[in-house]
Amino acid sequence: QGGAEGDCGACTVSIARSDANGNLFYRPVNACILFMGMVNGAAIRTVEGLATCGDQLHPVQAAMVENHASQCGFCTPGFVMTLYTAYQNGNGLGPDEVDDTIAGNLCRCTGYRPIVEAATSLGANNDFKNKHNEDLALLAGLNNGQDVCCDKGGSQFMVPATSASFAKLYAEHPDATVIGGATDVGLWVTKQHRKLEKMIWTGGVAGYDAINDDGDVIRINPAVTHQQLLSYVAEDLPQCAELLRRFGALQVRSSGTVCGNIANASPIGDLPPVLISLNGAVELTKGVTSRLVKLENFFLDYGKQDRKVGEFVSALLIPKGKKPNLRCYKISKRFDQDISAVMLAANLEIVDGIMEGVRLAFGGMAGTPKRASHAEAVLAGNPLDIEHFKKAAAALIEDFTPISDMRGSARYRLLTAQNL
Ligand code: FAD
Ligand code: FES
Repeated sequence: QGGAEGDCGACTVSIARSDANGNLFYRPVNACILFMGMVNGAAIRTVEGLATCGDQLHPVQAAMVENHASQCGFCTPGFVMTLYTAYQNGNGLGPDEVDDTIAGNLCRCTGYRPIVEAATSLGANNDFKNKHNEDLALLAGLNNGQDVCCDKGGSQFMVPATSASFAKLYAEHPDATVIGGATDVGLWVTKQHRKLEKMIWTGGVAGYDAINDDGDVIRINPAVTHQQLLSYVAEDLPQCAELLRRFGALQVRSSGTVCGNIANASPIGDLPPVLISLNGAVELTKGVTSRLVKLENFFLDYGKQDRKVGEFVSALLIPKGKKPNLRCYKISKRFDQDISAVMLAANLEIVDGIMEGVRLAFGGMAGTPKRASHAEAVLAGNPLDIEHFKKAAAALIEDFTPISDMRGSARYRLLTAQNL
């Protein structure tokens, strides 16, 4: 194992499940921050299980050998498993896709060129549908639609199977930690050495991995991952998809949930500014009762949200439709796999050159993700021109008093926000 914090990808394994439509999908995940209960009902494959028998290497392994793509060897199993999941999903990887696919795997020998060559040499996996049918048949036998509860070493892990049983169990155990993808909570255990006595996971609930669309509103359920959202918004909200491409890396996006990014109360989560700029709302449920809160009102103070004991985030709702003037800017020290220092999501409605609707939401500028109301007031109702942008930049001083930390000084943050 490497750093045990989801960053290096050395521990990548493949998890396969059937999705809401009954299709099998393979995901690369970082095993170091995955709780055992989260593999319930899934097919897990590790690097040890790839070569079929004796010397018969899997095509991905063979491509790595043929291209001399392993140096010290420490990172190699992780690279192989990430490429294996892409191969299993039937994708041939073009040069543009390779970087995105392996951005969550670090090679400290810096031997990326032969690894990229191994990846591009693979081509499409034409046999993948047959393999899927075999795996689907095996998985079907595992899913009996029942709640599962594992109790081991003083820790309890609850895997409810339906939304009703999730709501009931969490109402009965409000002291349980809700687990989405564990890309935050996993680190509480591996880095802070916390012992979690009771956990309840959203990922086993039928339908919680779906994005629903009723024509007016998009409903993002609790187990929807960042990678799912990325594919979903690629056409209508390409700026949001590009931001999601820079969210962690493939392994983090394949585990981490959109609802987890809202519920974790971080001031630097990447999605709250975008969802606020899109006028999103959060649905909170306790037992059989649900309520809706506008996302911009959900974040009360640093680490504090408008969420009562026993309530969980049962969905995020965003108005449907293309937003041609949505812009998302993530400023971080690295392109991939980094948290923002400053983030701006700007959603403008422009009619005849006039900015009629203006929503500017920033992350990293205050204890919560927050709209820039003074800057918005300067823009709203005015022509889209540089003079008004300059005035709005100046007004940001009224909106924010950022802090200095390891990601950026207060001065850097304010200047960066103004430049954006
Ligand atoms: P979890 O870890 O499962 O939970 C996080 C918190 O939310 C916990 O308090 C949990 O109890 C609560 N929670 C989860 N779901 C619910 C729910 N439905 N109802 C109520 N409470 C809930 N974040 C970014 O914003 N941008 C990045 O680029 C980024 N990069 C990362 C890179 C790495 C290597 C890692 C390890 C993390 C990164 N993160 C990043 C942080 C993390 O991936 C995200 O915050 C992610 O969205 C958390 O979602 P999760 O499902 O994994 O949450
Ligand atoms: Fe580095 Fe798991 S050990 S990501």
